[in-house]
Amino acid sequence: MNKPKTVVLAGASGFIGSYFRARFEHDDWTVRTIGRRAAGGAPGQSASWDDDGALTRVLDGADLLVNLAGRSVHCRYNARNKAAILASRVRTTEALGRAIARCQEPPSVWLNSSTGTIYRDARDRPQSEEDGELGAGFSVDVARAWESALEATDTPRTRKVALRIAIVLGPGGGALRPFATLARLGLGGHMGVGTQQFSWIHVEDLYRAVRFLHARTDISGPVNIASPDVVDNRELMQLVRRAYGARLGIPTPAWLLRLGAVLIRTETELVLKSRWVQPAKLIDAGFIYRQPELGRALLAIAKGKP
Ligand SMILES: NC(=O)c1ccc[n+]([C@@H]2O[C@H](COP(=O)([O-])OP(=O)(O)OC[C@H]3O[C@@H](n4cnc5c(N)ncnc54)[C@H](OP(=O)(O)O)[C@@H]3O)[C@@H](O)[C@H]2O)c1
Repeated sequence: MNKPKTVVLAGASGFIGSYFRARFEHDDWTVRTIGRRAAGGAPGQSASWDDDGALTRVLDGADLLVNLAGRSVHCRYNARNKAAILASRVRTTEALGRAIARCQEPPSVWLNSSTGTIYRDARDRPQSEEDGELGAGFSVDVARAWESALEATDTPRTRKVALRIAIVLGPGGGALRPFATLARLGLGGHMGVGTQQFSWIHVEDLYRAVRFLHARTDISGPVNIASPDVVDNRELMQLVRRAYGARLGIPTPAWLLRLGAVLIRTETELVLKSRWVQPAKLIDAGFIYRQPELGRALLAIAKGKP
């Protein structure tokens, strides 16, 4: 019998991490975790960021590291929140690099989250890893710093990939929740001008992409993790209304979204920035999607299916 494989999940308590934990366990992997608090259990199974010895023990001998840690970006971008968003991504990445360097048997693969938001607001053409243009502004600065921190680590025995993840949809809605809530309230019309592109990935395909990238020893560097079925906001909201049975769909102008965002202490970037992330590396490598179509993915999520 094959020895079970071991994955280390950093930031395992979140939306993606919880899904990954269940999926890896279902596929008979041993799961170890790193987080703000050690989860307890046997020594070497979990570690907190401030315990260098435990970090090394958790990583030593593991097959795969997936880092999902990062303070939520669903907040107002004031100075304090901005600093926390940046530090929680850069410092955790640096800490993992130092811990891997201390390992006798480091993981052979390290997949570190990044974001599809690293590209500019694109309405004219898709952004691939090769010819995409990086944007400007706070979120892009964070993504650049995050990827630079990964690149700067010296891990000669560990292959590194930066996952440029699009908006993740999945059971319970994930990033879809605000869209679904508006649709239920009859406000599921287009947002702002409605021409902004919506790049997304179902969390099951994100998991499958992670397994695929673990196996593909020839792929490293930034990889776009998105479905090829990119739609504009008008079409997105039509599909959301259909999935949630909302007949009325009053559009929301950008000024009202900005006002609403202040009231609920968030930013409008999620809905107003045009993300057009082309998964060129995955497609060229022959990755097969389980949920390639947005309409079907939304219907499944609305019905509470995995
Ligand atoms: N969801 C998306 O649509 C999406 C899209 C692109 C990129 N991403 C990136 O993918 C990663 C996972 O996303 P997610 O949706 O699962 O996020 P999430 O639900 O907010 O979970 C992120 C995890 O990061 C850890 N964390 C939170 N604050 C932290 C801090 N101040 N310092 C260190 N760790 C902290 C927590 O794990 P512990 O409690 O275990 O410490 C938390 O469960 C994030 O880095 C996110 O930016 C997500």
